[in-house]
Amino acid sequence: MTRRPVNVVITGAAGQIGYALAPMVCAGAATGREKAIALRLLDVPFAEKALRGVMMELEDAAFELVESVSAHVDPEEAFVDADVCIMVGGFPRKAGMERKDVMGKNVAIYREQARALATKAKPGVKIVVVANPANTNANILRKFAPEIPAANVTCMTRLDHNRALAKLGGKSGRATRDVKNVIIWGNHSSTQYPDVNHATIEGKTAREVIGDDAYLDGEFVDAVRRRGAEIIEARQLSSALSAASSVCDHVYDWLNGTKEGEWTSMGVVSDGSYGVPEGLVYSFPVTCTGGKWQIVQGLTIDERSRKLMDESATELTEEFELAEACLAESA
Ligand code: NAD
Ligand code: LMR
Repeated sequence: MTRRPVNVVITGAAGQIGYALAPMVCAGAATGREKAIALRLLDVPFAEKALRGVMMELEDAAFELVESVSAHVDPEEAFVDADVCIMVGGFPRKAGMERKDVMGKNVAIYREQARALATKAKPGVKIVVVANPANTNANILRKFAPEIPAANVTCMTRLDHNRALAKLGGKSGRATRDVKNVIIWGNHSSTQYPDVNHATIEGKTAREVIGDDAYLDGEFVDAVRRRGAEIIEARQLSSALSAASSVCDHVYDWLNGTKEGEWTSMGVVSDGSYGVPEGLVYSFPVTCTGGKWQIVQGLTIDERSRKLMDESATELTEEFELAEACLAESA
């Protein structure tokens, strides 16, 4: 194990994802079993007591990789020399709230924390935004922290990717690990496009193994898009353990590399690949090597896929404009 710890920050750490995520991070699921960890937990002053409780539990769990755990309510303090920042902090939508109300509250957090990250974190800090609207929060963060390389600001669509793998595994009667190379294109929202055109199951095309294009182009797409809402309906709370586990997958692959011949899905800043407007934080198929992601190039995109990819890009463009309008109103 390396002695110099990786400084990992979890924002929104007193919340339900935070409670599932912190022990996974302490066990090395995000940064690997070879690296020591200094964990900082950040939340708002209102949640400070609960946050201290989480910190006490993490201390009591005596994780071998952990050098220190600290609790913070000031982002400027939490982000000092951060190497990895997992941003879960935000407000969930409550009954009676308009989309714009929740958007306004959340993007304001990401504008404020962008400045704290730009001034306090290590220049190479790797950031993944989980809190919704995840793509747009990440884009606002990027806009207000231009000092941080755009490639270091990502958002999580790995949960959607993992959901797609699990659905295809279940439908084909194979283990989830036998399913490879699905793609989530676009927004972490109901316009996301879970694409199976390049996916394989035990080395054969998913379309060949499943043999039911109507299912793959219809029910499958809807099921992946609706899974978050289905979990809220069942738990009366949004997904937490699967979100936590997926964000560990996202960070682990980013830091340690994707497997040979496999890709994953990450929300990353578009460079115009596949006709996605440059600058949008959009989910693409990516491979990772040496701590960097690259968008997988050269995939064939059929007409149906093109339309679905464009619909999600349009939604993201409109969402970003709405976020900017909310910020202008609150300025
Ligand atoms: P939660 O309400 O249980 O926890 C959120 C925490 O964030 C709370 O403790 C709150 O006090 C804290 N917080 C609010 N403002 C903050 C700020 N300025 N700084 C630091 N902390 C702050 O919610 P949760 O269930 O843990 O979900 C968190 C977010 O993740 C939500 O936005 C949810 O929609 C989103 N989510 C995303 C995905 C995904 O796949 N991208 C999946 C599940 C949930
Ligand atoms: C999920 O995909 O489970 C969440 O983003 C749902 C939500 O709205 O919090």
